[in-house]
Amino acid sequence: MCGIVGAVAQRNIVSVLIEGLRRLEYRGYDSCGVAVLGENGPRRARSVARVADLDEQVHEGHFDGITGIAHTRWATHGAPVTDNAHPIFSKDALALVHNGIIENYETLREMLRGKGYEFVSQTDTEVIAHLIHSVYRGDLFAAVREAIAQLHGAYAIAVLHKDQPHTVVGARQGSPLVVGLGNGENFLASDALALAGSTERFIFLEEGDVCELSLDGVRIVDRDGNEAQREVRQVAAYGGAVELGPYRHFMQKEIFEQPRAITDTIPQADSFDPSIFGEDAGKVFAEIDSLLILACGTSYYSGLTAKYWLESIAKIPTQVEIASEYRYRESVPNPKSLVVVISQSGETADTLAALKHAQSLGHKHTLAVCNVGTSAMVRQTELSFLTHAGREIGVASTKAFTTQLVALFVLAATLAKLRGHLSDEQEAGYLKQLRHLPAALNSVLALEPQIIAWSEEFSRKEHALFLGRGLHYPIALEGALKLKEISYIHAEAYPAGELKHGPLALVTEAMPVVTVAPNDALLEKLKSNIQEVRARGGELYVFADADTKIVNDEGLHVIRMPEHYGLLSPILHVVPLQLLAYHTACARGTDVDKPRNLAKSVTVE
Ligand code: G6P
Repeated sequence: MCGIVGAVAQRNIVSVLIEGLRRLEYRGYDSCGVAVLGENGPRRARSVARVADLDEQVHEGHFDGITGIAHTRWATHGAPVTDNAHPIFSKDALALVHNGIIENYETLREMLRGKGYEFVSQTDTEVIAHLIHSVYRGDLFAAVREAIAQLHGAYAIAVLHKDQPHTVVGARQGSPLVVGLGNGENFLASDALALAGSTERFIFLEEGDVCELSLDGVRIVDRDGNEAQREVRQVAAYGGAVELGPYRHFMQKEIFEQPRAITDTIPQADSFDPSIFGEDAGKVFAEIDSLLILACGTSYYSGLTAKYWLESIAKIPTQVEIASEYRYRESVPNPKSLVVVISQSGETADTLAALKHAQSLGHKHTLAVCNVGTSAMVRQTELSFLTHAGREIGVASTKAFTTQLVALFVLAATLAKLRGHLSDEQEAGYLKQLRHLPAALNSVLALEPQIIAWSEEFSRKEHALFLGRGLHYPIALEGALKLKEISYIHAEAYPAGELKHGPLALVTEAMPVVTVAPNDALLEKLKSNIQEVRARGGELYVFADADTKIVNDEGLHVIRMPEHYGLLSPILHVVPLQLLAYHTACARGTDVDKPRNLAKSVTVE
């Protein structure tokens, strides 16, 4: 997804800008660019290849400047070609980078054409550049404030002008932007991570803020034009670049990091105590009568899994909804419902907007399950639970998902206890199972060689069907999502009981059917579904708990999982599906960590 870096300093900042883009690369992008202010105005380099190519261009071109902006672009308006890459110029005087989408760009473009501006890109961004240029009268800060009043949509921008050689102006509305504070130098970025190595002091701008960076300070005004004092936060956790170590891809590394990530996420306490969700959690949990879970992508599937836990253990009605659907439909708000947003990044535009929408409808109790403590979602919710997955680089989420599941199981058990549905014995049993989970995961990871053997078969297919039942239906959904995201094989998931209502028509020997087979109450039903596939000549690939007694047979390939792991079984069963997708993608030679057209953190609608 798009990324912004900006800097004003007393040294050549080209390397700061390039390094910032490198740190944002993992989020996915299809072009990149940088502009620095020189004596004759802004000078830029752009590339539709990688940041490494941009780096070569700036070296060969001897780029040098003390003020600059840079960008990684994930195309929305206009193809990923050089002309559409940012920074976008206006009249060779002003350069601008933009994250987000401007909804009224067509009207503005007509208006600006009328004023003599020529458009050379297909982007919505170009209207912002020309608009600011058109109202510039010697004060870039004032011009940006005047221009953004005319914008509809979402944006984070960074702008510079040739007549103000020590100034970068930023503004945000609907897309994140942070200021990094240095000594005699200041920075701007869409994510604090981009500035690791340059500073550890950050200001997280709020919606509607406009900031002006100069050598000796930062000025911020809020949406009403009032001077704003924003908290300066020390964020030291970003550290250096994440190393790949002995792994081929970050996704593989992250799959194998799951035992550690889960160990770090499981609360230390010997009981399920609401205080881990925030000081007021006990009071809030006592007031609520239901949950409304909002999320996107993989995080949505962790919400779907959690619904089974919340309703069966805590006996609390739970609704799970895709954030982008919820935010635009008319729903019936229940102020006694706890709104739970789940997000790896905490910045996903649709989830953030859904949270705000819920709040605007009168939902006052909110909780974020998130992997980034400084994210907008954590800052905008009353309660939070931080997963400790560590940085996730692969676009396809793995360790973030399993740590979310841990967090949500802890939520279900905590609510169960408060609502009188958890005996001391059950509590001790759940805690013991949670603590044993990393070891159980290690035994599942040891299945990798068998999964590699299957992946060779899969890499030659164009379609796959995933089946699961009950608590493991969302796991089948997640398995199908992983496979399609990174191997580009068309994959669909169904609750196994639905097979006969449609997907059975697709079953032939060319369509592998992956089945998640835990030894739970639905096992006998699932076995019947397996027979329905076999009777039609389908090839089954079953991940079966050791105690299911499902064994290899003609058309029936089985990988034996450990014995059934009870309610926490989904956390084990998703792992072989991650590995299957990963090795299938490797066999097909796709770009595993940065699959085509996808982004890690989707900060546009
Ligand atoms: C993108 C990523 C997915 C992720 C989804 C939600 O689509 O590619 O891996 O599940 O966003 O992201 P979030 O950060 O909110 O969990």
